[in-house]
Amino acid sequence: MKRHAARFTMVALTALALAGCGTGKDEAGADGVAQIDQARLENAASDQDNWLGYGRTYAEQRYSELTQINDSNIGQLSLAWAVELDTARGQEATPIVVDGVMYTSTAWSKVMAVDAATGKVLWQFDPQNDGSKGAHACCDVVNRGVAVWKGRVYVGTIDGRLIALDARDGSKVWEVVTVDQKKPYTITMAPRVVRDKVIIGNSGAELGVRGYVSAYDTNTGKLVWRFYTVPGNPADGPDGAASDEAIEKIARPTWFGNKYWELGGGGTVWDSVVYDQELNQLLIGVGNGSPWNQKYRSEGKGDNLFLSSIVSVDPDTGKYKWHYQINPGETWDFTATQQIMLADLTIDGKPRKVLMQAPKNAFFYVIDRTNGKLISAKPYAPQNWAEGIDLKTGRPIEKPNARFTDGPALIYPSGIGAHAWMPMSYSPKTGLVYIPAMQHAIAYGDQKPYEIHPGRWNTGVSFLDPPALPGLPDTVEGRRKALDAMIKGSLVAYDPVAQKIVWEVKRDWPWNGGTLATAGNLVFEGTVRGEFEAYSADKGQKLWSFQTHRGIMAGPITYRVNGEQYIAVMAGYGGSMGMATKSAWEKRKMPNGLIVAFKIGGKGQLPAYTPVPLAKPDPSTESFTAAQIATGNKYYYTYCTICHNGPVNPDLRRSALLKDKDAWQQVVIKGALAQNGMASFAAYLKPEEAEGIRAFVNQQAKDLLKEEGGE
Ligand code: HEC
Repeated sequence: MKRHAARFTMVALTALALAGCGTGKDEAGADGVAQIDQARLENAASDQDNWLGYGRTYAEQRYSELTQINDSNIGQLSLAWAVELDTARGQEATPIVVDGVMYTSTAWSKVMAVDAATGKVLWQFDPQNDGSKGAHACCDVVNRGVAVWKGRVYVGTIDGRLIALDARDGSKVWEVVTVDQKKPYTITMAPRVVRDKVIIGNSGAELGVRGYVSAYDTNTGKLVWRFYTVPGNPADGPDGAASDEAIEKIARPTWFGNKYWELGGGGTVWDSVVYDQELNQLLIGVGNGSPWNQKYRSEGKGDNLFLSSIVSVDPDTGKYKWHYQINPGETWDFTATQQIMLADLTIDGKPRKVLMQAPKNAFFYVIDRTNGKLISAKPYAPQNWAEGIDLKTGRPIEKPNARFTDGPALIYPSGIGAHAWMPMSYSPKTGLVYIPAMQHAIAYGDQKPYEIHPGRWNTGVSFLDPPALPGLPDTVEGRRKALDAMIKGSLVAYDPVAQKIVWEVKRDWPWNGGTLATAGNLVFEGTVRGEFEAYSADKGQKLWSFQTHRGIMAGPITYRVNGEQYIAVMAGYGGSMGMATKSAWEKRKMPNGLIVAFKIGGKGQLPAYTPVPLAKPDPSTESFTAAQIATGNKYYYTYCTICHNGPVNPDLRRSALLKDKDAWQQVVIKGALAQNGMASFAAYLKPEEAEGIRAFVNQQAKDLLKEEGGE
């Protein structure tokens, strides 16, 4: 099938790989390739040549002291090399660079090693995921990166495996299944390594799973400890996990009703896990509830720990130390999974060991990481759900009807977040945090009736047909347009001590890329419009940009090889907004992703690019009944919109299959394209319901054709 035909062929072994050849499975890295150990990671801040961990150092500040590229010579920054990837699906990884070699993951959890100076591909690895697993990915089949440790490369896969590869040639050393693969678990986060333990969480709270984070022995792949973030079914007894005591004593008493475990409760640890080397603690960012709507999850009561919390555990045992909950009784998809960044700040004249987070809910949190107590919190983006955060209790002061208990409410930010997984950076030189921020509103209401669709999206929230609300237009169409008009992005330079925005670059669209700060007074950020841009770190003046022709979401990095500084980033649009919402570029096909690297006086070339326009809608002339169209309307928004409403996957209104009843059935019911990520919906839809969706989409195709000036 399509994706497999494009499967990577193993590139011939390079000189580098040959140097360490042997069986490729013996004691890893005896030849010195990819030698990262505890001491090297703990000293990563002063290792200017390399980018050794996901956030560069354990503190994950994404800041480099390199100044060869700076605000006075940035005009000479140009492409050094580019590598074209094998798909147009989203690219979210932050590459690791060790001693001249770049290791990165790509969509579908594939891995590659590239010569960091030339872009020459050294090896590639395909974990051979079943394509239909793509249906369990809430937000595209993305992967945010690998971990490198003692000659091995670690990756989590979209089907829930953790795989160790030999860094010399990409051959598999071991793999373990970290989740119950019958459930809609996925992995998209980058693993982290602490003292020979590789830490990995998982995703799936939109669909219905119970979150946890696990530590595996880097040598053997054996489970060392596991920490569950929410209580399970009490009838099943204790988990026999490191979290048992914390779950029973602290978490379970905050949940209500007799079925809060029915959909797993959520609380997935899907992105941020950070090791604090000074205090020897692991800080875990915990996600939203499953379902989102607390009324259906926990009778609308209780804090529902440890949802939307930062939890500190002992990295060796997984034992609970403390927690701070950002959104007690989470009900909007407000997660605390966003980047956790560690720093030493001077606040009120005193040095404080803090963690900083800009979670989805639009408040910037500065927290004392010695004890989890809140120091300060102020909004870094527009929000309308809280009056503020009470510094005494650490709890938000919610506005009336923020929980849509008295009927639907228009809330911003939405579950997309004022900041998603896109990494932020911090420059100790300017004292500013650079946040890829967003504005996005949703009209939240209770889904009525509440229905569970096992293995599909289950939020308990109705947000696709914005209801009539004061200040919004009368028609559904008008309201959709009004909500669309509120969608914006910005690059925010935020002073975490003063808790205020110092400068801001407003963008007409959200879902822009992660940021990188350097001592050269530079901040780099890619945009959804394909520009890779540099700003002065102190003032926010635009100094440079480069057009890559595909939206950039990932976090950039910098490193040095043979004395030359490089800036690199992965380009490729996708993720949740890429699949479910309009993009800055709607009228063309997304090209395959890229890795691009820049240096002063670089002479590289992008692969040739010619925009491919989207097909004109070509609806069927068959007539469908109003009942068919109504059925299709309902099921389209229940099952299809989350993947087919953005530019990454086919726009069904433009599909040639609209005219072919049988082919439509083959795809939607029989799973003819399952291997490419379009799973069969036979478990959820009867053939006549799938036909109803065709009727509904066909109607939409006719409208689109008119809009675009056709007949
Ligand atoms: C989890 C994501 C996901 C969901 C949910 C999803 N699809 Fe798809 N769909 C895809 C992907 C990916 C493709 C492209 C497959 C390929 O490249 O061959 C696709 C392709 C298709 C195609 C073929 C279009 C063409 O012209 O080639 C049809 C028809 C389709 N989907 C219908 C549906 C319907 C109907 C639903 C809802 C019942 C649905 N899809 C839900 C991911 C999804």
